[in-house]
Amino acid sequence: MLPYKDFPTIGEGNTPMIQVKNLCEELGLKNLWIKNEGQNPTGSHKDRMSPLIIARAKSIGMESVAVASSGNAGASIAAYAAAGDVECIVLTTESMNPIWKQAIEKTGATIVYTKEAMKRWELMKGNVENGIWYPATNFINPPVGSNPFGVQGYKTIAYEIIEDSEEIPNIIIVPCSRGDLLWGIWEGFKEVFDAGMIHSLPRLIAVEPFPRLKKVLEGQPYVDSFIGDSTYTPSVGGITVTYQALKAIQESNGEVVVIPSHQAETEQKHLGKHGIYAERSSSLVVGALKYLIKKQAIQEEDKILLLISSNGYKELF
Ligand SMILES: Cc1ncc(COP(=O)(O)O)c(C=O)c1O
Repeated sequence: MLPYKDFPTIGEGNTPMIQVKNLCEELGLKNLWIKNEGQNPTGSHKDRMSPLIIARAKSIGMESVAVASSGNAGASIAAYAAAGDVECIVLTTESMNPIWKQAIEKTGATIVYTKEAMKRWELMKGNVENGIWYPATNFINPPVGSNPFGVQGYKTIAYEIIEDSEEIPNIIIVPCSRGDLLWGIWEGFKEVFDAGMIHSLPRLIAVEPFPRLKKVLEGQPYVDSFIGDSTYTPSVGGITVTYQALKAIQESNGEVVVIPSHQAETEQKHLGKHGIYAERSSSLVVGALKYLIKKQAIQEEDKILLLISSNGYKELF
């Protein structure tokens, strides 16, 4: 079900699905799981995307892969490029957290800094169009999302949830920026459903730090740019959305919840009290869950899965 069978691997995937009993009781729920993507080799779900991108680059004879990233994608692609013996260029801004910078540098990748985040795309576009770099992430506006060969890797999250569940969760809450993760998970579920191997599909709930996808659902064109505060959640702070993200929400009969960036630390502490140290961007999922419980959009019987996309050990401030 993946575009390549042979790809560099450093132990990605098969992350645990944990039932968090105390959090369940505290929130008055019966079935609540966390799938912790922070347990991947570079500490985020991006490790499901990177191997396939390196495989693709190699299969078409490219020797350099470029990634525009605020941290997680850069660290992941850099590690898999090193494992696959491909050159890696990470385009970022000076605001990248030094822990990520260090991790990227140790792989031998080159970091290039641009003044503004959107300038990364311009630089990438030039070098992709003249055939020097193979693009791992989006570089055109309006955006089409990250490299589609890579996004296929997120389907494995759905496969694992299906394999690990007695009954598939009916609600999955996912931290969202442009929506690659959301779309990949949805595609995975749909494929298994279409093959007749499962008989229900979950509703996907996207959580974002300021209204982007929410505005699109309310009618704003998805090709617009959306300005908002993402000071404490840079990993999910982009100013664009994709058509795929919109489609995943619409097709799954899902919903978008906005949990402001400044609330991320409170949510991070809440998870921390239950032993889960998530990146602040990922911690927004608990805020979304509490919001949905409060507005009675979640019932005691619902089977809910929180997707923790990244661990907190990489955050300094
Ligand atoms: C921690 C974290 N969570 C979630 C995401 C999901 O982003 P997207 O919706 O663009 O796939 C990202 C992507 O950069 C991330 O770093």
